[in-house]
Amino acid sequence: MNALFNNYSRRPIRIVEGKGTLVKDENGKQYLDFTSGIAVCCLGHAHPALVKTIQEQSEKIWHTSNLFESPGQIALAEKLVKDTHLAHALFCNSGAEANEAAIKLARKHTGKHHIITFENSFHGRTFGAMSATGQEKIQKGFGPMVDQFTYLPFNDAQALKEAVDETVGAIMLEIIQGEGGIHEVTEEFAQAINEICENSDVLLIVDEVQTGIGRTGTRFAFEQTSLKPDIVSMAKGLGGGFPIGGILGTGELYETFGPGSHGTTYGGNPLAVAVAQTVIDHVFDSSFLNEVQEKSQYLIKKLNEALPKEFEIRGKGLLIGVDCGKEVASLVVKAEEEGLLLVAAGPQVLRLLPPLTVTNEEIDQAVAILKKILVEKTSSVS
Ligand SMILES: Cc1ncc(COP(=O)(O)O)c(C=O)c1O
Repeated sequence: MNALFNNYSRRPIRIVEGKGTLVKDENGKQYLDFTSGIAVCCLGHAHPALVKTIQEQSEKIWHTSNLFESPGQIALAEKLVKDTHLAHALFCNSGAEANEAAIKLARKHTGKHHIITFENSFHGRTFGAMSATGQEKIQKGFGPMVDQFTYLPFNDAQALKEAVDETVGAIMLEIIQGEGGIHEVTEEFAQAINEICENSDVLLIVDEVQTGIGRTGTRFAFEQTSLKPDIVSMAKGLGGGFPIGGILGTGELYETFGPGSHGTTYGGNPLAVAVAQTVIDHVFDSSFLNEVQEKSQYLIKKLNEALPKEFEIRGKGLLIGVDCGKEVASLVVKAEEEGLLLVAAGPQVLRLLPPLTVTNEEIDQAVAILKKILVEKTSSVS
């Protein structure tokens, strides 16, 4: 026992430094970090441009609150909505908070409180975001949830069509369910959502907290579908490791939030938005995104070559799941022993989330470790 609450199941590794994809523990052991702090450190650890931004901005001004004008927030918002159908941004500090803002905006705009989300989704741990999350284990023990969320089976167009009535104000989903096991929205399902949103006053909220900011090889994952969200939530990669989240919304939503509707003391403080601008300058560059797609193809090819068919490879960009068809907790430990940090996505899926700056050589090394623990030593780790 120590002075912390016991609410994380922490791996017994003390990471003390990192550079790019590599991190070192306090004993000097080196690991390939294929967690990126759970899809956060998109430019790797200690990226020189981020270090420089933090140094320079911290000498100017860190925090002013939203009492004052923020040219940094405006510049970041402009970078995020450029060449999209989205028009405005609001900044906060985390993914759950971004989803709170999205839910509040949708409820206030439509005047309706019923929101459809999906089984196995994950939207965060605050009350609204937890209530939106379609997983009993996340909600257990906390009493009544926020009212009027309905959880439908993911990718079931018929169930969705049957569930939408005049009480529904929004549909909220992840393009790839990350925590839920790396399951992608199908195009058939996307078409069903589009049909509903085009023919009724139902808003579409896309949770890009994990999939956004280049993680799937495009700026946002929705760009690889036919979906046109009214609201997009984001966090994780946006600050590359510095806490910042936010929502983007269409021009039609502009009047819905006025002064006093919503807010947060820290949201989009000058240090956070300076870092996020540097992240976006790197990640939203088309040649950077092309490289993410090339690395993704390389990783998937190497995994398919290394692993037998019973391991299903799913996902997009550098959000890749290896479905092992059995509990993976012990495999995460084995990978660690071999110098590879991984995180599970549900009980049976290993999630590969390297920094978007990972090299092909690092991918080769990671795949060799995966082959060793999944194929060569299968009997000893099952
Ligand atoms: C899709 C999705 N939404 C929301 C969240 C919550 O984000 P945060 O932990 O920053 O509150 C997560 C975190 O894993 C996520 O993956």
